[in-house]
Amino acid sequence: MLTSATITTPIYYVNDRPHIGHAYTTTISDVWARAQRGMGRDVFFLTGTDEHGVKVEKSAAARGISPQQLADENAAEFQRVMRTFALTNSDFIRTTEPRHIAQVQEFLRRLVARGAVYLGTFEGWYDEGQEEYHTENRARELNYKSPISGKPLVRATEQNYYFKLSAFSERIAQHYAANPTFVRPVERFNEMIGRMRDGLQDVPITRTNFSWGIAMPDAPGHVVYVWIDALLNYVTALGLGGGDASTQGREKYWPADYHIIGKEILWFHAVIWPALLMALDLPLPRCVYAHSFWIADGQKMSKSLGNFVDLPTIERYTSVYGLDAWRWYMATQGPIAATDADFNARHFHEVYTSSLVNTVGNCPSRVGAMIGKYFAGSLPTDADRGGQWPQKCSEVVDRWERSMERFDLVGASRCGIDLLGQVDAMINETEPFKLAKDPANTPRLSSILNQCAQVVRLAGVLLEPFIPQRGADLATAFGGSPGAATAWADRRRYGTIQDGTAIHKVALFPRVEATAMASSSGASPSTGSDQPRQ
Ligand code: MSP
Repeated sequence: MLTSATITTPIYYVNDRPHIGHAYTTTISDVWARAQRGMGRDVFFLTGTDEHGVKVEKSAAARGISPQQLADENAAEFQRVMRTFALTNSDFIRTTEPRHIAQVQEFLRRLVARGAVYLGTFEGWYDEGQEEYHTENRARELNYKSPISGKPLVRATEQNYYFKLSAFSERIAQHYAANPTFVRPVERFNEMIGRMRDGLQDVPITRTNFSWGIAMPDAPGHVVYVWIDALLNYVTALGLGGGDASTQGREKYWPADYHIIGKEILWFHAVIWPALLMALDLPLPRCVYAHSFWIADGQKMSKSLGNFVDLPTIERYTSVYGLDAWRWYMATQGPIAATDADFNARHFHEVYTSSLVNTVGNCPSRVGAMIGKYFAGSLPTDADRGGQWPQKCSEVVDRWERSMERFDLVGASRCGIDLLGQVDAMINETEPFKLAKDPANTPRLSSILNQCAQVVRLAGVLLEPFIPQRGADLATAFGGSPGAATAWADRRRYGTIQDGTAIHKVALFPRVEATAMASSSGASPSTGSDQPRQ
């Protein structure tokens, strides 16, 4: 039986257009999903759009259209991007879909029935831009200003339904203690642990000051707080609150292995979400991974600075360097750790040239060319049966599997590069082009080139989740088939290309002019997103 694996991205606000932040989270999730599928697991990869709330209501009003129209327009744009970027999500959930709404209401009924939600009066500090309430302590720490927009927090009083978050402090602390990798990276986990020490206060989870949201069951005038509505997407997409035909048979995908998110939305995912799941008697996800931010040329990205990496900018990169190059840069150079990562065109170019052109492109092309020249393109035999390679390769594949398991994409990306580097080193050392001059060397030449080809194929397997298009070309050129078409036990093994198999020379990554992306970040100054991002 196939084991399953589940990964999610945040669901994206529809009052913004797709940009590098969305592209990043979605691309790294896609790399992981493809890797798991390649290993034969049954993967559920979820993304979607977050369509309710004041922000959407206001943006729509400013454009003179209905919130639903705005949501439809932008959700379609996000869906288009998923397709044009060949992202392999299993579903795309929209929070205005009936299947989601009905289950959110069902979950709220359950929460009320279990006494985890009650009606009360709230007075507190509210960040209008983020639609987030802060405790007195936290508000003081923030100097009574939004950490995101810098605008003053406002004092708000409302009669609302509350979620009894305070009742879960102990259990969350226990879960943290028992699961040291529940939140990653560790710096972020420590932040959450620190904030938890303040104690947890109950949170209002309905609003009465706007209407663009899901109606709270049996409470006229109350609309469900957009964050509660949004977090529940992770389980409504799997039909855990009832579902419909589209979600049937998906219960097995819960709990998720990874929720991939940005650092600014960690509190919701690391504290509120686990408490909600506990209140609903549902298991918790294995890991909430909170990456940091892309900045551009050392500065925060913003429309006014003209350094914003928006969709048109991303599309310029993919048309110049190719989609795989974009994915490679996202997955290997991004802000996966606790520090922000700088996006700039020169760096992009250097990474493209050194990793993709000079290593991933060049090594297979060299090997393919020599087999073409000396053995008419047919894999010669290896009397040495791989020598040290089977052992070495098996170790590298083990390392790759472990890295993927830990969501260490950078570590996993190095595995394929390492193997190709070792092939290059072997070629430089053994100089097959010199051996080829004397027919007496043919057996040795055959062994060397057979081994090179076997390792190149295997490196391609390890690189394929990162560079699926060129990875497929590489697999085909070296007598294999791309993706999960073959069982993992065979794909991961050294030496599966049979003697006599046709090996082709491949040109995977062409050189690109260093000046192809003119400005430093490559951002197009006139096409910022609707809003500045932090
Ligand atoms: N709707 C909420 C999430 C609800 S999940 C239950 C939301 N949406 S968002 O559209 O703002 O999310 C954007 C995602 O992109 C977040 O993961 C965020 O961290 C990420 N990024 C936004 N700007 C970014 C950068 N400059 N760099 C990297 N990622 C950043 O939040």
